[in-house]
Amino acid sequence: MIGRLQTAVEYTGTDASPWGELKLISGSANPKLAGRIAEILDVQLTDPRLRHFPDGEINVKIEDSMRGHDVFVIQPTSPPVNEHLMELFIILDALRRASAGRVTAVVPYYGYARKERKTQPREPISAKLVANFITLAGADRLLLFDLHAEAIEGFFDVPTDHLSPHRIFAEYLKQLDLKHITIVAPDAGGGRRAEAVASDLAAPIAFGYKRRDDDQSVEVIAISGDVKGRDCVVVEDIITTGGTVSKLAVALRKQGANRVLIAATHPVLSGDALEKLKSADVEEVIVTDTVPIPAEKMGSPLKVLSVAPLLAEAIIRVHENRSVSELFR
Ligand code: R5P
Repeated sequence: MIGRLQTAVEYTGTDASPWGELKLISGSANPKLAGRIAEILDVQLTDPRLRHFPDGEINVKIEDSMRGHDVFVIQPTSPPVNEHLMELFIILDALRRASAGRVTAVVPYYGYARKERKTQPREPISAKLVANFITLAGADRLLLFDLHAEAIEGFFDVPTDHLSPHRIFAEYLKQLDLKHITIVAPDAGGGRRAEAVASDLAAPIAFGYKRRDDDQSVEVIAISGDVKGRDCVVVEDIITTGGTVSKLAVALRKQGANRVLIAATHPVLSGDALEKLKSADVEEVIVTDTVPIPAEKMGSPLKVLSVAPLLAEAIIRVHENRSVSELFR
């Protein structure tokens, strides 16, 4: 049975779905997020009984019947990315072989998204390869969240819904005592993401220009826009090493920014990322729970906002064959 949503949308009854019963399954990548979604929807998570063989290979054994049901598999492909991808593929394969009616892969963080094009000869397009594998494994549709590049949606030949965090960030930022806000995109590629938050807040936008020599080091070479004396919020998709946002925060301060906050969707936080953020004099780093954060990293400067209500609302709309587009606006 599915209960009422704690969101704007009310559950209208199981009869509203042309598909079978709604089922939720989580891989091991983010069981807390899956648990929050299950709680909001009042649906029990189905245990895929993930096990490892002694050699490290993954196995699953779904005990309950999935025949004819509308199954949502919640699995961000966060680090360890290859392990979590393989889990996803194997769960999808098990569901297809179990005659699930329809299978939606809910991937709130899409690993390999930053390799969505060739920048040099003889490079792969890993984001496309991952998309191929997900559909080949058995996903009938995808529910995605703040992809690094929107073009990745087009890598799938099955239906996709791509949600954005801009409302979540904007609503939270409105509660803070910020004055003369400028939203800052770290680079041109992040312009649309930043613009969405800026538009919700009726704030102007500024841009950073960065140069990356390798995967570890990044330099902010310029900032364009009005940042002097302003409360600046850097809107970013991923914090990996923390290099981009911490260097940008320092550069913003040098250019006279009053306060500097960061709003980043996916807190991958590799290595010493958190230390970099702390030493960059950032007031708050607002992130979401698409990627789990280890307990020892929680606390200031991180503020975690949950995407569970938005994903739950999208899941129920997909299940009931209702429009999801309202959630994009
Ligand atoms: C890249 O263009 C992304 O949007 C992020 O800026 C990047 O992934 C951040 O990585 P890092 O934290 O390692 O600088």
